[in-house]
Amino acid sequence: MIKTRKELIDTYLNFFKLKKHNIIRGASLIPENDPTVLFTTAGMHPLIPYLLGQPHPSGKRLTNVQKCVRTDDIDEVGDCFHHTFFEMLGNWSLGDYFKDESIKLSFEFLTNVLQIPKEKLAVTIFEGDEDSPIDEESAKVWIKMGIPESRISPMPRKNNWWGPVGNSGPCGPDTEMFYFVGIGKPKEESNPKTKENEWCEIWNDVFMQYNKTKDGKYEELTQKNVDTGMGVERTLAVLQGLKDNYLTEIFIPVIERICILSKRRYGFNKNDTRAMRIIADHIRAAVFIMGDELKISPSNIGHGYIVRRLIRRAIRYGRQIGIKGNFCSFIAPIYIEYYQKDYPELEKNRNFILNELDREEERFKEVIENGLKEFDKIKRKSDKIISGHDAFILFSSYGFPIELTKELAKESGLDVEEYGFNQEFKEHQKLSRTATAGTFKSGLIDNSEETTKLHTVTHLLHQALRKVLGETIKQRGSNITAERLRFDFSFDRKLTEEELNEVETTVNNQIKEGFDVKREEMTIEEAKKKGALAFFDTKYGEKVSVYSIGDFSKEVCAGPHVTNISKLGHFKIIKEEAVAAGVRRIKAVLK
Ligand code: ALA
Repeated sequence: MIKTRKELIDTYLNFFKLKKHNIIRGASLIPENDPTVLFTTAGMHPLIPYLLGQPHPSGKRLTNVQKCVRTDDIDEVGDCFHHTFFEMLGNWSLGDYFKDESIKLSFEFLTNVLQIPKEKLAVTIFEGDEDSPIDEESAKVWIKMGIPESRISPMPRKNNWWGPVGNSGPCGPDTEMFYFVGIGKPKEESNPKTKENEWCEIWNDVFMQYNKTKDGKYEELTQKNVDTGMGVERTLAVLQGLKDNYLTEIFIPVIERICILSKRRYGFNKNDTRAMRIIADHIRAAVFIMGDELKISPSNIGHGYIVRRLIRRAIRYGRQIGIKGNFCSFIAPIYIEYYQKDYPELEKNRNFILNELDREEERFKEVIENGLKEFDKIKRKSDKIISGHDAFILFSSYGFPIELTKELAKESGLDVEEYGFNQEFKEHQKLSRTATAGTFKSGLIDNSEETTKLHTVTHLLHQALRKVLGETIKQRGSNITAERLRFDFSFDRKLTEEELNEVETTVNNQIKEGFDVKREEMTIEEAKKKGALAFFDTKYGEKVSVYSIGDFSKEVCAGPHVTNISKLGHFKIIKEEAVAAGVRRIKAVLK
């Protein structure tokens, strides 16, 4: 039986390697060149250019394990199986095999390798709607594999259609695989539709045959792909007969430490258990985001804001279960040690992670102090009851959870008008959801002409910056929309007017040269030997695409790019600013 996370991952990757898949390295948690989504949310996410037809240097059959962050259901965390950070195992066919072979591979892995009895498996398929027909093909393959019809449930689009990640991009119907987690044997009529609680989804095979365009049309992709995703945490749990991911070896040492710190027990009291899970989950996600290749500090915007929210939420729940003093940096090292072999960036950034956690706890303490002062003011003006509005102000401006306000109120013989608080809280949630949804609005990597041009000119800008400021500058991030490019790089002061002009002129002079853009495939070592710039570290021996623009620029990149730069237009820098200590940001456009 599979006992550890590592065993599950190795077993999966080796199986697909035997089936002629190349193991590729997982990507950073911060999507490269992706303007619309804050974090990598699935294994397919860094592969979008290849799902849209660009050849992948490692071939047509790929597999990996990808670190992912999904923040949409942060409020669900605290139950047995929701996480903000998780690992996803995946295998891909880029225009190679499709439904038949994909389902056969999944079935073989589940029943032969993981030894799950066929009787404990159920699947769902897409039931069809006005945009696309029912996925009978998948159902037929499952029947051929010996899954009875009663265990094949057709489900609507909201369940069995995957993607696109933003509002445009590759997508298609999927078939999801469920493992029986009920008591004894499943009854004949039991399936994920009729008895949802008895089945746990562990794997999803997506058949990406459409590209959803920006205006909402579904175009058939010329290349039909398979994208699959298996959640490591929950698969490990169910394989061991556990109904709680936090009882797997991934979390147990952390839960134990939280028990020691809080002097409370796990699994006895509902609120305490929930708080412990939230702490364990949020600190893990914060460790991975801060310790990413791109190092993210807690802040009030973007990725940094998510980290701040995660840490503060963990602290709040820590206080709720009686943990005193700074504790995040006592928990984080357990994760760093546990994951460091697979994610060496965590060990590399260990000090940074631990210092940032301590600093954030200190900052939050100050906030709490200010909040207590505000609470005293509110208390003085309140007669018997603290209004919902005031409780909400304490929550939104001072980070006071309602539980804390209630506790403080009780000590002073006051009540809290919770109904009013909940109303305002719901309104606030709606607004913040809309704000988050805004991030996704323009769709994932769109390969429009505008963005393609901006991708290419970003290479010219990168090289021009190296020419003007020196070769020590390093790319720290890139973000492209159809309107503009944004490029972050390490440099420790503001650029002068002259430097900005020189960068612009250098780029525009190159555009005038009208070079072709050449794409070659080679290993990362060959690429580096040839002087190509590589933003992300890549596994030894892995093949990459190298884009060259004349003799001026050579970079490892996933594209997309124009084939000749003469039509890029006029390059103009519209803003230069600091984003963090030692990191500058340039926004620029093509006119
Ligand atoms: N991309 C698919 C998912 O996340 C496999 O479920």
